[in-house]
Amino acid sequence: MTPDVSSLVESDRVAGTLYTDPDLFEREMDRIFHSTWVWVAHESEIAKPGDFRTAWVGRRPVIVSRDRRGGINVLLNRCRHRGASVCDVPKGNGNGFTCPYHAWSYALDGTLRGIPYPEGYEDVVEKKDLPLQRLKVASYAGMIFASFNDDIEPLEDFLGGARLWIDRFMKQGAGYPIKVQGEHRFRFNGNWKIQLENTTDWYHFPIVHRSWMSSVDAETASMLSIMTDETAVTHALGNGHSVSVSVAEHVDLDVDDGTEKLQDRFSHIVEELSKDLPPERVRRIVRSLHGAGFNLNLFPNVAMSMAFFRVLRPLSVAETEIRHVALGLEGGPEIVNRERLRIHEHFQGPFGFGSPDDAEAWNRVQRGVTGGTDMPILVNRGLGREKPNDLGQPTSHATDETGMREAYAMWKRMMTDGN
Ligand code: FES
Ligand SMILES: [Fe+2]
Repeated sequence: MTPDVSSLVESDRVAGTLYTDPDLFEREMDRIFHSTWVWVAHESEIAKPGDFRTAWVGRRPVIVSRDRRGGINVLLNRCRHRGASVCDVPKGNGNGFTCPYHAWSYALDGTLRGIPYPEGYEDVVEKKDLPLQRLKVASYAGMIFASFNDDIEPLEDFLGGARLWIDRFMKQGAGYPIKVQGEHRFRFNGNWKIQLENTTDWYHFPIVHRSWMSSVDAETASMLSIMTDETAVTHALGNGHSVSVSVAEHVDLDVDDGTEKLQDRFSHIVEELSKDLPPERVRRIVRSLHGAGFNLNLFPNVAMSMAFFRVLRPLSVAETEIRHVALGLEGGPEIVNRERLRIHEHFQGPFGFGSPDDAEAWNRVQRGVTGGTDMPILVNRGLGREKPNDLGQPTSHATDETGMREAYAMWKRMMTDGN
């Protein structure tokens, strides 16, 4: 039965069934994940010709590859013979992909190159007609997106107001290009939108992350004591995207009025870097160690969150996989990349003081909502104080639910258009 989808999302609340209804989940796969731009990789992960990594667009497995001419390809990981996946490793470098079942082989751009024992295919198969299915691909500032929808709007239009913030996010390289240092994955027993909401939810931070707050030094804790900080705001950026500023002086890391004191915890890094670099370069790099001073949520599946990417993959209506991708400086000082990994592990790592607490909260949302799907989920915090900023973007305090309202408005548009 098709639910009356438009009645499920109002400006201040959404229906509990958004987390639990398997029919809605199927419709989301079709109308959102298999229709819009979905983030698949960062260019540093496929830097050289022959590099590839596997990823997902909704529930469909894909391969992201760099071909010999330097082009980026996103290919459905599905053999054109009888359907086996042709690549089952997370990443690597090679000349192409050979299906494990009957060894049809494909080039890095998906062209069908070879068929063993071809005699049976005379007058039956033309190799040029059977490449791996190619998705539409575009990248912005190193972020690679793909879509199954050939008629989709240009990526730059889709990103719209988020582009400024992507550019700002990349400034944490402090002059070095950003690179992926590694990643880890985990699953939680909850709907994907619970995670989507969380990226711009600073309201939970002092509650859920009490153990993290008590595990860091006072300077770091005060950097994120945003409950009463009026410069901590969330902007709705359009098309479901939003950004929450947590550390206003780190929004544009190229701007530095010189008043910010570098944190004592990084003094050993300052000392080490100062052996080779002038003081202003050292200061620029150290100010960027925590990443950008905001969380940027790109609908539907990737968050650029201070110093890492959080990538979500819906597995079923009540199960989601999360990838945490740690970022570093390509060609940057080793001591800096190591420190960035340690900071990442401390919060986001499997034994970290942050993400495991988030996952527990998300599990509990699913458990509670399943027990009472007739009651709405409220996303009304800050509605009374939300105002447009200079760009006309709805803006409120970072603890308000402006980002969630933006995501659900996009969800509603995508789920109901063409009805
Ligand atoms: S299924 Fe791939 S070669 Fe047969
Ligand atoms: Fe959190």
